[in-house]
Amino acid sequence: MIEQLDSLSAEFVGALESLNDEAAILKLKSEYLGKKGKVSEILKGLRNATADERKVIGPKANGLKEEINQLVATKLQKIELEVINKKLEKNKIDLSNRDELWLQKLNHGGVHPRTLIQREIEDVFLSMGFEVLDGPHIEDEFHNFEALNIPSDHPARDMQDTFWFHDPQSDEKEKKLLRTHTSTIQVRGMRERKPPFRFIAPGTVFRCERTDASHEMVFNQLEGMMVGKDISVGNLIYFMKTLLKEIFQKEVEVRLRPGFFPFVEPGFELDIQCLICKGKGCSVCKKTGWVELLPCGMVHPNVLKAGGIDPDEYNGFAFGLGLDRLVMMRYGIDDIRHLNSGDLRFNSQFQAY
Ligand code: DAH
Repeated sequence: MIEQLDSLSAEFVGALESLNDEAAILKLKSEYLGKKGKVSEILKGLRNATADERKVIGPKANGLKEEINQLVATKLQKIELEVINKKLEKNKIDLSNRDELWLQKLNHGGVHPRTLIQREIEDVFLSMGFEVLDGPHIEDEFHNFEALNIPSDHPARDMQDTFWFHDPQSDEKEKKLLRTHTSTIQVRGMRERKPPFRFIAPGTVFRCERTDASHEMVFNQLEGMMVGKDISVGNLIYFMKTLLKEIFQKEVEVRLRPGFFPFVEPGFELDIQCLICKGKGCSVCKKTGWVELLPCGMVHPNVLKAGGIDPDEYNGFAFGLGLDRLVMMRYGIDDIRHLNSGDLRFNSQFQAY
């Protein structure tokens, strides 16, 4: 019987080795340990054994039972682990491989084209020694108008329909408004530094206007200012041409006309030929073939004074680029309203660099 038990043990180990699924292993176990199993049969035979034989065979048979239970438990654990590992292997995400990212399969947007262009312009100006400034959306009359040589009775206030936070008729001091242009940052920039200096300031502006293909109530500008000694219109034109060449990566047709803005003297309108219709006339250029893109001029002495700068010692130029229009020209977008639509199908067409 002892020999039988020994050979059963070896036999079980051999049989177990070739099995790899849970059901078959449990079946094998019951073939040995079940009521009519091989080990149980041997134990039944103990009835006919002598007392001495029982002393040896009993513990041995129980040992075999334990051994089999142990082997089965270990084997089942091993199989479970293999299953988990296989699952993990299958669901593995390689974060260094963009195509594998599950995020890629989701409906996603891209970097807004305005952000792309803004970054490019910032790079161009940073390389020419300009700083990049920011300013608040909610402004007061001083920064939006007075310091820019637009007193309260000036007709130029009507050029920019303003969103007021308070009744514009009241005499309340410091009436708040949503800035109508980024020129407000000229005032803040001047007051915070000493000449010579140069900076640009991109930002969102607000006007209480009817919207159409080329007008939005909420749109974006990029202001620029350079103040120092003996700055000329020639310097202004040089910087404007450099900017346009870098942005369009080609020479674009431009024209310079006199333009009136209270904060510059002389003031200019720099137009570019409409790139949507190539100058033929469309809804974006209002059938003129030209798009007003870069109003600019030499900073008015009153503006320098309001900024704490002596106009007898220093002068400078300023410009207010229509950022959204530039984006439209660059990418051939024929309606400004696409830009704020929040439509992912629109955004996902533009590539980040
Ligand atoms: N602030 C003007 C506007 O929104 C644009 C402008 C014109 C800015 C001439 C300037 C400038 O800096 O010199 O209409």
